[in-house]
Amino acid sequence: MRTLIRQTTVITSHTEPEILEDADVVIDGQVFTYVGPRQDWQEDFSQIIDGRGKVVAPGFVNAHGHAAMSLLRSYADDVPLMYWLEKRIWPIEARLKREDVYWGTKLALAEMIKGGTTTFADMYFFMDQVAEAVEEAGMRAVLCRGLVGVGDEAESGLEESRLFVERWQGRAEGRITTMLGPHAPYTCPPPYLKKVLALQEELQVPLHIHLAETADEVEQIRREYQLTPTQLLRETGVLERPVLAAHCVHLTEEDMDILKAYDVHVAHNPGSNLKLGSGVAPLPDLLARGITVGLGTDGAASNNNLDMMEEMRLAALLHKGVRQDPTAITAADAFMLATRESAKAVFLEQAGMISEGMKADLIMVDLQRPHLVPRHNIIAHLVYAAQPSDITLVMVDGRVLCEHGRLTTLDEDEILYQAEQRALLLVNEEEGQI
Ligand code: NI
Repeated sequence: MRTLIRQTTVITSHTEPEILEDADVVIDGQVFTYVGPRQDWQEDFSQIIDGRGKVVAPGFVNAHGHAAMSLLRSYADDVPLMYWLEKRIWPIEARLKREDVYWGTKLALAEMIKGGTTTFADMYFFMDQVAEAVEEAGMRAVLCRGLVGVGDEAESGLEESRLFVERWQGRAEGRITTMLGPHAPYTCPPPYLKKVLALQEELQVPLHIHLAETADEVEQIRREYQLTPTQLLRETGVLERPVLAAHCVHLTEEDMDILKAYDVHVAHNPGSNLKLGSGVAPLPDLLARGITVGLGTDGAASNNNLDMMEEMRLAALLHKGVRQDPTAITAADAFMLATRESAKAVFLEQAGMISEGMKADLIMVDLQRPHLVPRHNIIAHLVYAAQPSDITLVMVDGRVLCEHGRLTTLDEDEILYQAEQRALLLVNEEEGQI
């Protein structure tokens, strides 16, 4: 399969968003083989796409989420994290069956693909079903089984994680990679974290953990261990491994220095942190230290969508307002966070960038829309003005997954039907118990 995208505008996202006008993009199989000035091509292509009036950009990388939680979208709102988890979310999650996770994940994949997300990091359970859905959809994903170190599933979760990593690492033509997912310092006490580390030593995959999400968490860990959650992870040896830490809202200056010293990657989730009233992460301070930060939506139960354009906009606007500084996070910063930096954050070196030799994951955005004219600044357009419905093409690994809003690998009607039915059944069962 050889594809030519002709005469288009390209945002490359090397170390900053670089714009090429009147450019051609060639994709051979799964990778970009040419990105540069328009040429007079004499060779044959299996597919030629007219890029005039459009912009080709890297697909978004959603650095933290729980895809199947889309079944719980708008089920529990306007309550704080601990109440939300303990009283609303965990009781329903205890009832989820394999098929629920499969269809809930597919619902999330349909939404993400249509919104231009080409890669996502996920922490949940029944991960074989998540991986199967990813394989069918054609997306790229970094998956882990969420681990809670207290209760029945502490030990079996470790064994499931091992089997999951052994079965899925590098599968789906390399589109699926795996991690180990200790949920958080407050659900995984140090002796359990040590077991996770022993497994990590053996499997050599990165760790994905929630860290310092709320002030309550910090207080609880301080009370129990006289340490901040970040210090606790350092003392336990967790930070010596490759780590993706989601949230990092409540950090001390020393915590941030520790994250930098151990090269911990951070997933920033401004929408979820705002919605659960958790707080505002010190993103400008993390970036000033040179910490690798990606952008994530978290699950749809606390967002309530998986729209990375909205998340970019939130990241840019939120920190300007909080710091009373319009330069705090620029449009270019937010764009990099959602693409190349997110790819790095989830430990993918070959994604998040339009460049020769990189994986051909891209979106094409139609600029001929009333809210995108005139074209003074395309990056600012994508961050501050664009909508997912402006995306006309989504490609992963050189394969078209969505064209003019129509999914090519997933049956959208079937997904909406299954998700609605299953979600209603779960909620009705739960409410019947009360
Ligand atoms: Ni989360």
